[in-house]
Amino acid sequence: MAIPNIIFFLPLLLLLPHQAFANVTLSSTLSTNDQNPLWLSPSQDFAFGFREINNTNLFLLAIWFYKISEQTIIWNAYTSNPIPAGSQVKLTAQGLTLTNPQGDALWNTSPLEDVSYAAMLDTGNFVLASANSSYLWQSFNNPTDTLLPSQTLDLKGKLYSRFTHNNYTKGRFKLYFDNTTLRLSMLGWPTESLYANYFSTDASSAANYSDLASRLVFEEKGDIYVATEGGGRIEFRWKKLVLDVTRYYYRATLEYYGVFTIYSLPRGSNDNQVWSIVSYVPENICKDLLSDLGSGCCGYNSYCSWENDRPICRCANEEGYSLVDPDNPFGGCQPNLPLGCEVDEALSQEKLEEVYEMKEARNVNWPEGDYERLDGYNLSDCEKSCLYDCNCGAAIFNSANQCWKKRLPLSNGRPTGTDDGTTTALIKLRISPLSVPDSVVEKDGVVEPALLGSLIASLVVNTLLAAAVLLVLLLRPKKIVKVSVPSLVETNLHSFTYQALKEATMDFSEELGRGSFGIVYRGTFKTGSNNNDVAVKRLDRLAPEREKEFRTELSSIGKTCHKNLVRLIGFCDEGVHRVLVYECMNNGTLAHILFGQPKPNWNLRVRFALGIARGLLYLHEECDNPIIHCDIKPQNILIDQHFIPKISDFGLAKLLLGDQSKTKTMIRGTRGYVAPEWFKNVPVTAKVDVYSFGVMLLEIICCRRSVVMDMDSGEEEKAILTDWAYDCYLERRLDVLVENDKEAMEDEGRLKKLVMIAMWCIQENHEIRPTMKTVMQMLEGVVDVPNPPSPSSFTSCA
Ligand SMILES: *[C@@H]1O[C@H](CO)[C@@H](O)[C@H](O)[C@H]1NC(C)=O
Ligand SMILES: *[C@@H]1O[C@H](CO)[C@@H](O)[C@H](O)[C@H]1NC(C)=O
Ligand SMILES: *[C@@H]1O[C@H](CO)[C@@H](O)[C@H](O)[C@H]1NC(C)=O
Ligand SMILES: *[C@@H]1O[C@H](CO)[C@@H](O)[C@H](O)[C@H]1NC(C)=O
Ligand SMILES: *[C@@H]1O[C@H](CO)[C@@H](O)[C@H](O)[C@H]1NC(C)=O
Ligand SMILES: *[C@@H]1O[C@H](CO)[C@@H](O)[C@H](O)[C@H]1NC(C)=O
Ligand SMILES: *[C@@H]1O[C@H](CO)[C@@H](O)[C@H](O)[C@H]1NC(C)=O
Repeated sequence: MAIPNIIFFLPLLLLLPHQAFANVTLSSTLSTNDQNPLWLSPSQDFAFGFREINNTNLFLLAIWFYKISEQTIIWNAYTSNPIPAGSQVKLTAQGLTLTNPQGDALWNTSPLEDVSYAAMLDTGNFVLASANSSYLWQSFNNPTDTLLPSQTLDLKGKLYSRFTHNNYTKGRFKLYFDNTTLRLSMLGWPTESLYANYFSTDASSAANYSDLASRLVFEEKGDIYVATEGGGRIEFRWKKLVLDVTRYYYRATLEYYGVFTIYSLPRGSNDNQVWSIVSYVPENICKDLLSDLGSGCCGYNSYCSWENDRPICRCANEEGYSLVDPDNPFGGCQPNLPLGCEVDEALSQEKLEEVYEMKEARNVNWPEGDYERLDGYNLSDCEKSCLYDCNCGAAIFNSANQCWKKRLPLSNGRPTGTDDGTTTALIKLRISPLSVPDSVVEKDGVVEPALLGSLIASLVVNTLLAAAVLLVLLLRPKKIVKVSVPSLVETNLHSFTYQALKEATMDFSEELGRGSFGIVYRGTFKTGSNNNDVAVKRLDRLAPEREKEFRTELSSIGKTCHKNLVRLIGFCDEGVHRVLVYECMNNGTLAHILFGQPKPNWNLRVRFALGIARGLLYLHEECDNPIIHCDIKPQNILIDQHFIPKISDFGLAKLLLGDQSKTKTMIRGTRGYVAPEWFKNVPVTAKVDVYSFGVMLLEIICCRRSVVMDMDSGEEEKAILTDWAYDCYLERRLDVLVENDKEAMEDEGRLKKLVMIAMWCIQENHEIRPTMKTVMQMLEGVVDVPNPPSPSSFTSCA
């Protein structure tokens, strides 16, 4: 009987390499809670199942390359909402259904009859099959952004790019058949409206003109072409590509920046191989995509250049513009400080020249969006014309002496062609807020009696404690903490002569601002043909015991180096002359920008918050000797020409040497930002900076000062920002808090998160306050932000 048995099993054995281990039976489920929520193909080249989106606890239902380290996704279910944890997908005779934990359907295959099993095939196709193994549904017929060898796309088929590198929702580009021409177009996202196409197959390349295209074919041998009804081929520019599928994986993906690209990756390589580009259409999307509607490949206010087989996006001007979404270079840019007629009604030309500047850029153009052409102009006429015109965001001046004025947003930015002659783009930038309210200038110590009542609620404890502490301090002999000053040789600082600094600052003539220990002046050093601007801080004539502060500041910042800290370049220490030389920050202080008019935009404010938090984290935890700043406030944050915030003024910083992580010291800092423990007889820790950061974070969110003395009557409850913000948070009225700032309201999730983080930072009990490290993790979304308790609910024993 042995022989019939073998004969019986033979056909099954032949089937083994294809399907043997891959049949998914009816009623099978996958859940995001499973250890390994996936179904593999027999060769394990492909998997179908759930993929977590980074660490968001949200999932995709997807198919991906399983054996390569990148695990590239080639298909995903388009659900209208992200898939939460606890969701599951189930196979029934009617097909696949994806449900969330509440049991609501999030996605399903079109309703089917008599499904008998499902299988993840080695081609990358996931199929639902009937009992006789005919396919009732297949992922190959419902593609998202990628085609694989052996997959075809019929006349109704289409691909959508994904939205961004990490976001797999339907994006801005579409590949489709327009009757019988294959085209690529940009969409009026999020709708399906098609803008002008930027690529189409050329039917004339078929041998027979009247032969109609019938489908897009990705051959197993690797070539991609359009097959015609008559059996002909319409080739792409790569013409009869021959690929080796035994040694390489291939895929053709409509990228989120609109390029249809074929990639290859060696099979069986375990190391971190990445996909290499085989070929693509269109040839240069920066040039080929031009539509009077839509932004172009790189988003608004940016320009695109084709480098190393892919488009690279840059903001219209790197100083005055920044990415709308810092994680998405293709999402467009926006001016850091708003411009336009709403904010600049009826300003004099002198005033406009003060707050605006025209920046030149060579060989870029935004061909769409002109609203005026002025002939016979020279460059400076063109500049002025745009500068004085509140509608104008940029102008293009060309060699025919024409000035083309453009309104914002700029679209379709690209390098100019060689045949355009020389053109100069003039980009308008706001270099200064329009007006800065007087309240930015520090008024210390004057509390108007009328307001005292409303202040008392929050300050009474502090005030009493302050008095008590002052008394204690007066009665006690002063103890000066001894700080050993490390040699300045360690710090790489330049030592300047007083004479040199006097010349550089033109005898200390241009004042930039006033810090805690002295006045800051602008200085310029000429090196060759370059002018290097510096900020020179001349310290007040120091009392002998203040010598320590000078040395402290010098040795502590001298050794720091971080993007979000102002860099100390050098110093001068000649007898009574004590001077510090810093890098110069073009855009003044955070206070200047935050409390000026018009408000800086929301995304910029969020970046400010992140940058400052990074700087503080560095001071507290990442430099050799931890530093407590002790005077964090918007006046001590400087903004450089790229709108990067930098913490300055370490004049009050305490060096924490060795294990001396707590220090007792006299009250330092500025009222309104000072943590309650300064007024208590408890050691001061880095948490005082966390408190000040929290207050400042609220100011950044709301664009107003933490204490406003002259509130209109009826608005007194708003006077103390920290109290008012907590009330608004409890009443879920964040719209009131940001005064209906449209951008902030549209980003409500983040707005709420930032307010909650601020609430944690300003907890009266310093032990409840998070460390800067935790604050940073909360800001970056790495850890969740729990609901904050009332900042002052904790009554401490003094
Ligand atoms: C998969 O299921 C179908 C239908 O039951 C069956 O015909 C086929 O042989 C199965 N394949 C394998 C490899 O078990
Ligand atoms: C998600 O992960 C990718 C790859 O690790 C990373 O480049 C990207 O920044 C992450 N995205 C987010 C939003 O965290
Ligand atoms: C397989 O079954 C389906 C119905 O389930 C039927 O429409 C189809 O004709 C069958 N195919 C073959 C080859 O028998
Ligand atoms: C992807 O982007 C869209 C559009 O901005 C957004 O609505 C969606 O929430 C994003 N998805 C994820 C998972 O971030
Ligand atoms: C596509 O086909 C439709 C219907 O046959 C026709 O009306 C339309 O003009 C065609 N479009 C093009 C671009 O040929
Ligand atoms: C061109 O193709 C059409 C449609 O397939 C066919 O009817 C016609 O005979 C072909 N002409 C030639 C010259 O091959
Ligand atoms: C530009 O033209 C204006 C007159 O329209 C003239 O006053 C100005 O000097 C010219 N500037 C330059 C740089 O040629």
